Amino acid sequence: MLWHKKENALQDWLADTSSGLAGRVALITGSTGGVGFQVAGMLAARGATVVINGRGQERGDAALKALQGLSGRVHLATGDCIDPHEAARVVQQAAGLEGRLDILVSAGAEGRVAPKPFAEMSAEEIVTAYQTRFLPRILPVHAAVPFLREQGGSVVMLTTDAARHPTPGESIVGAVGAGVILMTKALAKEFSRWRIRVNSVAMTLTSDTPSWDRIFGGDAAFQQQLFTKLNDRFPGGRAPTAQEVAHVVAFLASDAAAQVTGQTVSVNGGLSFGGW
Ligand SMILES: NC(=O)c1ccc[n+]([C@@H]2O[C@H](COP(=O)([O-])OP(=O)(O)OC[C@H]3O[C@@H](n4cnc5c(N)ncnc54)[C@H](OP(=O)(O)O)[C@@H]3O)[C@@H](O)[C@H]2O)c1
Repeated sequence: MLWHKKENALQDWLADTSSGLAGRVALITGSTGGVGFQVAGMLAARGATVVINGRGQERGDAALKALQGLSGRVHLATGDCIDPHEAARVVQQAAGLEGRLDILVSAGAEGRVAPKPFAEMSAEEIVTAYQTRFLPRILPVHAAVPFLREQGGSVVMLTTDAARHPTPGESIVGAVGAGVILMTKALAKEFSRWRIRVNSVAMTLTSDTPSWDRIFGGDAAFQQQLFTKLNDRFPGGRAPTAQEVAHVVAFLASDAAAQVTGQTVSVNGGLSFGGW
């Protein structure tokens, strides 16, 4: 009997398609560049119909062209996800393509205020830093719920390790990230009745994204100092790539992670271990 079960297991392993995404529709907000773009490519390669998003038309067209070399099922929906109406329109456009939405990856949110010590921030900068990071992350999730709950689905949000470890100059960045981690848990509970899983992926630095160039190629001395210190401490000797982050996002988005919800996974090469 036991052996019979083992034989079945062999067949099950060979037939396992749980990491494939054929027949699924995925919207990745903030995916015309950076980590989101890598996620879009990975989900398209696994068979999903993919809708990419960003604010800029030109950047969007370039990303669309690049991804269409990979799959004929990639589309673009431009819009600024900090605006509730635009976020809703982007989600509706994605869900309207094939009459369903299965996966939402909330990836893009440009922080319009670079990291700096809290006491040096103006009140306006505090408001802007908070709004530009938090709202584009959660508004697409809110707009996607009516579609995701039709057949169940998966939400993956990107967040920051500054949410788990207090980092000088990143008080607001960390507070927003911590908000995303808490929302991951709270929404996982609220949405479980509709078979919608909610998870997050936290990062510190990625070596091949525009943010790297902005940090190390820019003229923000405080930011450069902060991230140079962090970069020197990666135990593996280097920061993760966006593709390495995308692998984890794709896993969480797929049925291979059917029993994983409410979790935040740090992809940081062991630089730090999230405490919550
Ligand atoms: N990369 C890291 O190591 C790291 C670490 C911690 C946290 N994060 C956070 O993770 C997210 C992704 O990082 P990344 O390095 O991939 O960023 P990125 O290279 O700046 O890419 C951001 C993408 O999002 C789009 N975008 C930005 N704001 C948007 C908005 N309001 N509405 C719609 N699209 C928007 C951008 O296109 P347009 O400019 O055309 O809109 C672009 O396609 C960011 O929120 C970042 O703060 C990243």
